[in-house]
Amino acid sequence: MSNSKVFVPTMGSLHAGHLSLIEIAKNYSSNIVVSIFVNPLQFENPEDLATYPRDIDGDIVQARSAGATEIWTPTVEEIYPGTVEQISAGAIGKLYEGAGRAGHFDGVLTVVDRLFRHVQPTWAIFGEKDFQQLFIIKKWVKASGLPIEIIGAPLIRDLDGLALSSRNVRLTPDDRKTARVISRALRQATAERSIDSARDRLHDVLASEPGFKLDYAEIINEDNFEPASSARKGRAIVAGWVNGVRLLDNMSMSSPISVSGIREIQVKTLA
Ligand code: PAF
Repeated sequence: MSNSKVFVPTMGSLHAGHLSLIEIAKNYSSNIVVSIFVNPLQFENPEDLATYPRDIDGDIVQARSAGATEIWTPTVEEIYPGTVEQISAGAIGKLYEGAGRAGHFDGVLTVVDRLFRHVQPTWAIFGEKDFQQLFIIKKWVKASGLPIEIIGAPLIRDLDGLALSSRNVRLTPDDRKTARVISRALRQATAERSIDSARDRLHDVLASEPGFKLDYAEIINEDNFEPASSARKGRAIVAGWVNGVRLLDNMSMSSPISVSGIREIQVKTLA
């Protein structure tokens, strides 16, 4: 039997989105490694790091019952012994998610590199919810010539349209109602025919909800992450805050089919 491993890196606080990555992993290998490590290097804000939801015991049970055959929960000292030289995510790392979060993507690449060196997977699976992260990791793996295939997995939404995220636990029921504006804006924008009307619609719908504080909303070209000039290969990306909780979402202009060719998945999160 092959020793090839498929790897699902996580920061824990697992939800149905993570479990779907483990489910997809089963298509690649019977050796499924899940890591749980809250990476301090990718948090620019110490308070965000301190309050990041953690449930290591619950995570281990969930990952195991979802099918993980190895669960790795390294310490900060294990991942970062001594001085850390960070990997640069380049110019793309300073846009959108990286613009307001200095060093975020450098921190992501630095930890992913260390996780990859330890696990040595043949495949690694990342969710399309963090579309810019997926883009940057794919680009870096290609440029570094690493023998790892990066697989993008479809974003998972709750029944109310909210993209699943570990941060959602911080939303009150009223916040959740407010947060619905994001998927509403994405659906309406991606239903437009022209790129200009899609951009207008995205901004108009988001602006209609006073409880949503916009960080950015754009339609980018999936191939290069530059503002899209046509709907082809376009993807609407949005980030902002509801009651101080940062939310992130995206949708393909050829929605609801994701880049991996699988329909967007909706689940009902268990309470
Ligand atoms: O997407 C995440 O959970 C994290 O950014 C990752 C890829 C596990 C690196 O810490």
